[in-house]
Amino acid sequence: MKTVRDFNVKNKRVLVRCDFNVPLDEQGNILNDFRIRQTIPTIKYLLKEKAKIILMSHLGNPEGEMVPELQMDKIQERLIEILEISEHLDVSITKTPSCKGYEIEKYIFGLEPSEILLLENLRFYKEETDNDPEFAKSLSRLGDIYINDAFGVCHRSHASVVGVPQYLPCGIGFLIEKEIQNLERLLKNPKKPMIALIGGKKVGTKSKVIDKILEVADFVLISGLIKEEIEKTGMVFKYPEKLIGPVDSIICEGKGLDIGPKTIKLFKKKIRKAKTIFWNGPFGMTEKEEFQKGTFKIAKAIARKWFCFSVAGGGETIEFLNRKRLISKFDHVSTGGGAMLSFIAGEPLPGLEALRPKG
Ligand code: 3PG
Repeated sequence: MKTVRDFNVKNKRVLVRCDFNVPLDEQGNILNDFRIRQTIPTIKYLLKEKAKIILMSHLGNPEGEMVPELQMDKIQERLIEILEISEHLDVSITKTPSCKGYEIEKYIFGLEPSEILLLENLRFYKEETDNDPEFAKSLSRLGDIYINDAFGVCHRSHASVVGVPQYLPCGIGFLIEKEIQNLERLLKNPKKPMIALIGGKKVGTKSKVIDKILEVADFVLISGLIKEEIEKTGMVFKYPEKLIGPVDSIICEGKGLDIGPKTIKLFKKKIRKAKTIFWNGPFGMTEKEEFQKGTFKIAKAIARKWFCFSVAGGGETIEFLNRKRLISKFDHVSTGGGAMLSFIAGEPLPGLEALRPKG
């Protein structure tokens, strides 16, 4: 697979798929910009090499509708802040009002080397998630080279992820390169015992990959929500003895909103013995102070460990670790949630497959 370094990008229009899908609060403010910051090395490289840069991403799940709160303006503002204030770069970032059509072409036409264009939210178009070939073709016309730096979305067969690279020379950016290096380290001769902790939302997607993760990990510790999903759908596993669910929980209005003290103790015991850990998804409703104790105890137990390779990932996990100032305690924090799980489960990621040389 090629990387951005393998191309002569000078004066070329480089179309970069990013994952700027950051968590927002109810007022639409960015709660955590980790994913945006992780894309900066690729953007800085393209600026230095005098490429004409076109960034594209989704934000939230507007399901093909234009949702004002999910417009990319706040991403544009944050990118400007990061590049100008933190990186001391004098940059021009223009946001386009849409992703396709003639109006976009006038922006592309006027783009100078080392200037940045940010396209409007890709998921305002249903064609994006439908992987519509015409939509992919129209996006591909905006660039000369396609770079995928959106690891978090590589498990989705969407137009901007798998469609566009069919029409352009393509490769990965520095973010994806780093993700692959670190996640492969988890898979190639991991120090044992290896444990996986899986919680959070999107339980359907997550529970589907657990069987494969049980093949590589010594134990998989799951949240109450995932346990419920497994029971509800009657899933059967090859190594059920390796799967450990909560033994108690904090109940509020009939719902388990956090793991209980016995589960915390049980999980911490497994964490203490582990030499390799990967973690995706909180274990309680961490948006609320009163239900974040279990997740916090787990995070601290991992953070305190020495001589252990630790990887965490997923939007909610990143947001939580950032809030608790624990991000730096992990060896690698993946920008991917579902994508990270699929990678660990050994499933081919459509977004990466699409970049492999044809034939
Ligand atoms: C994520 O948040 O994991 C990625 O941005 C992918 O988002 P999705 O699950 O809405 O496709």
